[in-house]
Amino acid sequence: MTNPSSIPVITIDGPTASGKGTVAHLVAERLGFHLLDSGALYRLTALSATRRGVDLHDEHALAKVAEHLPARFVDGEIKLADENVGEAIRAEAVGNLASRIAALPAVRQALFGLQLGFRKAPGLVADGRDMGTVIFPGAQLKIFLTASVAARAERRYKQLIDKGFSANMDDLLADLQARDDRDTHRLIAPLVPAEGAHVLDTSSKTVVEAVEQIMQWWVQK
Ligand code: DC
Repeated sequence: MTNPSSIPVITIDGPTASGKGTVAHLVAERLGFHLLDSGALYRLTALSATRRGVDLHDEHALAKVAEHLPARFVDGEIKLADENVGEAIRAEAVGNLASRIAALPAVRQALFGLQLGFRKAPGLVADGRDMGTVIFPGAQLKIFLTASVAARAERRYKQLIDKGFSANMDDLLADLQARDDRDTHRLIAPLVPAEGAHVLDTSSKTVVEAVEQIMQWWVQK
């Protein structure tokens, strides 16, 4: 059996709407690697807890939801048991709640082992906030993908409108700032560049340029 620590991992961490998801997906595709969208696990926990009427201040109850999450990633679809919830978990309200419950140590602990399990041959691209710092500190390549708040708010606005959600730019900016603040300043697994991470600012870069830069770093490894 392959020793998991010998399976290559590329971690891509960064703030919300930095383009991580798209970039991680494309890098994984180029390399034929598996993909871990760790934010989806926090979003699934948030959605599941809301639906089950769990007290959103009860850390223990929320951790139980995370521990028994019937999450499935099949052919690009994100499922809770058999239901495709790919769209539902992208709603702003779910993202905000995910950011809140992600500050709870018991919830992070409950999702820890599940995330390690994604490290499978031939390799993994892991997208999140603490992939390079906490979950895969031994990753072969670590990226910290960022962009200005204004650039990120604009991207998020376009994404939401394209998907038929309503959106307000001022609200989005305020939400992004609040979420950045929470993700960066929380006591456990805060959003910071991992030691040795390449910082990639995508404010004035296209997705293709960002992917090319990461591929170059990977080849140079
Ligand atoms: O990447 P995203 O927007 O889908 O993540 C939703 C929230 O989940 C984010 O605000 C913070 C949290 N999160 C986290 O704390 N750690 C991760 N590795 C991924 C996401």
